[in-house]
Amino acid sequence: MADIRAPKPEKPARPAGWPRARGRHYLDVLEHLHLTRRPDWYLEIGSGRGHSLSRCPGRAIAVDPDFRLTGDVMGDKPELHLLRQTSEAFFASGKALELAPRIDLAFIDGMHLFEYVLDDFIAAEKLCDAGAMILLHDLVPFSPAAAEREWDPERTKGWSGDVWKMTLILREYRPDLEFKVLNPRPCGLGVITGLDPTNSTLEEARDDIVARFMDLTIEEFGARKLCDLMQMQDVEEALPGLCDREAAE
Ligand SMILES: C[S@@+](CC[C@H](N)C(=O)[O-])C[C@H]1O[C@@H](n2cnc3c(N)ncnc32)[C@H](O)[C@@H]1O
Repeated sequence: MADIRAPKPEKPARPAGWPRARGRHYLDVLEHLHLTRRPDWYLEIGSGRGHSLSRCPGRAIAVDPDFRLTGDVMGDKPELHLLRQTSEAFFASGKALELAPRIDLAFIDGMHLFEYVLDDFIAAEKLCDAGAMILLHDLVPFSPAAAEREWDPERTKGWSGDVWKMTLILREYRPDLEFKVLNPRPCGLGVITGLDPTNSTLEEARDDIVARFMDLTIEEFGARKLCDLMQMQDVEEALPGLCDREAAE
């Protein structure tokens, strides 16, 4: 009988020196950070089916224009606010401050284009204090096809877009931040502490940054150069130093 299943995209070709995130799965790392740092308020940009949201046991605000929740995202949370809107509309609305005095842990996993992540980071940092942590997903692309600005499902099953550019941007424009790139599967996790809600460097440079990085491709920048800049760390080594929220305050 003929095989009528749709052909799977071929395993993505990765040039030599391509960065690989092979550590503990990011959802387990996220859960570990929730359980150890015990944030009073968690902000999630991009929830999709709710896999990351369900790992949060505390108070949470989740923003997604297209929730596709499956399973129990409420769990034992004392409070959960689901906002069906883009992050841009959410931050512009001022709703965050109505709901929570401040954000202690934020996970940015919405639109996988660097200018969206940059805007989400700028807006989220304003809601944080010095003891908070912001996590960025998708910094380590699976393959050249997954690192493009357009998702072509024929060439790559997963898509991390050009979020990898955030490493270049934060290293250059915000050297004051404690910014680590860790290796959780499947596409890494950026961990940012030492936040300063009064710092306006990124906001002021935002349009220049977007114009500068928009057309840059990973081929042009170079996978090895990205590896050198990321200095990707093993999550098992880095995690113990990231679990104590009070230590950073
Ligand atoms: C990869 S999924 C999130 C996965 C989820 N964080 C997890 O780990 O289980 C990305 C989500 O971002 C949402 N998204 C797309 N554009 C967005 C935007 N402008 N603001 C907020 N969320 C957005 C999509 O609807 C999608 O559900």
